[in-house]
Amino acid sequence: MQISFVEPSRAAAGGGAWVVGAVEGGALLPAAVRWDKACGGALTRALKYSRFTGKSGQMLEVLAPAGVKASRLLLIGLGKAEALEEKGLESLGAQIVGRLYTSGETAASFEVDVPKGSKVKKAELAAHLAFGAKLKSYAFDKYRTRNLDEYEKKLKAVRIVTPDLAAAKKAHAGLAAVADGIFLARDLVNEPPNVLYPAEFARRAKAALSKLGVKIEILGEAEMKKRGFGALLGVGQGSDRESQLVVMQWNGARKKDAKPVALVGKGVCFDSGGLSIKVGAGMQGMKGDMAGAACVTGTMLALASRKAKVNVVGVIGLVENMPDGSAFRPDDVLTSLSGQTIEVLNTDAEGRLVLADALTYTQRRFKPKMLIDLATLTGAIVQTLGYEHAGIFSNDDQLVQRVQAAGRTTGERVWQLPLDPFYDKMIRSKIADMKNIGGGNSGAITAAQFLLRFIEKGTVWAHLDIAGVAWQDGEQKPTIPSWGTGWGVRLLNRLVKEHYEQ
Ligand code: BES
Ligand code: MN
Ligand code: ZN
Repeated sequence: MQISFVEPSRAAAGGGAWVVGAVEGGALLPAAVRWDKACGGALTRALKYSRFTGKSGQMLEVLAPAGVKASRLLLIGLGKAEALEEKGLESLGAQIVGRLYTSGETAASFEVDVPKGSKVKKAELAAHLAFGAKLKSYAFDKYRTRNLDEYEKKLKAVRIVTPDLAAAKKAHAGLAAVADGIFLARDLVNEPPNVLYPAEFARRAKAALSKLGVKIEILGEAEMKKRGFGALLGVGQGSDRESQLVVMQWNGARKKDAKPVALVGKGVCFDSGGLSIKVGAGMQGMKGDMAGAACVTGTMLALASRKAKVNVVGVIGLVENMPDGSAFRPDDVLTSLSGQTIEVLNTDAEGRLVLADALTYTQRRFKPKMLIDLATLTGAIVQTLGYEHAGIFSNDDQLVQRVQAAGRTTGERVWQLPLDPFYDKMIRSKIADMKNIGGGNSGAITAAQFLLRFIEKGTVWAHLDIAGVAWQDGEQKPTIPSWGTGWGVRLLNRLVKEHYEQ
């Protein structure tokens, strides 16, 4: 979707739809009043015969009368002026686009004024409406070959009319970078596992990022074996596809040698469960078990394309978990990169094994000032928190508060769950340093507790279990499509922007 910004004086009614606003109570904002007049009072007449009250997201559509250049007016309810904020505006932008998709319009202009009493700036309103519109335009139709017309999104161009042109464009440039990162993450999650296996994921990460100045290193099985990645390689050994570790570095900080922020992602390109094989229904969707890695890759793209003033390193462990004659077994003992040994009692608890080595590697090589890992780690987190919050586990309260705050502004919310020696006891092994399952309840916590064993002294760390938020079945939120959500890119971008850019 093509997004552009234009000043009111230069917006002279083009064709296509015009979107104007009203606040709760139904009062039309100035542009709406003007358009109503130009259309001979068509809007006020329609209002009289409708249930439109201006509540956030309500819409009223009228065809423009003959003689007016615009094809239709779409009045959108902004709700209460004081309650307007960025994620609400994104939602509105997306809802408008969703509505226009049903009409077949190919172009639209948004002329939505900031209502009196609102604390959002004109440029912010313009930029976040545009961002929401863009997020709604995401589609993953590359495997459809029939009835393409039915799926085509006809609205190709959105113009945002705003008096504060330069500031709107600037605010939008940062958000457009984030949208690109989100779209990359969604594409990676949606791509089927016969197409997107570890080496292909690595290739795509490199193709998308190296042209932006991100340094990419890819370690294959031979290098990882030499270095001692026994846990990660154990998971991948039953697959025909080679396991990979991808290291992505963006050095944008003013102080070149500033310690980096580290992002680590679980990248299980398909999780069959391995020999502890999943049942059919539980295996469906396990192409998305690399959503943590997709989020890290998408975030690197967002940060690099907006030239964020920060040093960041993204490390993703890419494997496929398959059953096979050479697959790892329940009862195997693996020696991790950290030297700690792990008794595998269930090959379906594989994500923590991949992360263990990726965490050790990242900490030892980069000594990050902060480390966040993201993983579709447990079904237990889905049972606990459902689809609205990711679980956060951390050894640092300040980091938790920062992530929670970024979650509230972006709408990608997290909820803290505990770490505690009590749960750590649950992963004691009879013969090795630990076992890979807790073997009882509180599965999301024992998984996090397992990861904590790989966090070195002094590392400020948080683990996000995103199994409930990384994909969704229907379109439950206006800005989020069915399936891969790209969850986390907005959140991490905001967190970095607010606290780690210098
Ligand atoms: N990838 C799954 C977790 C998952 C489940 C993600 C459902 C998204 C939706 C993970 O590797 C897994 O299989 N976890 C097991 C752990 C158990 C064997 C201890 C689980 O949650 O059942
Ligand atoms: Mn699994
Ligand atoms: Zn998994």
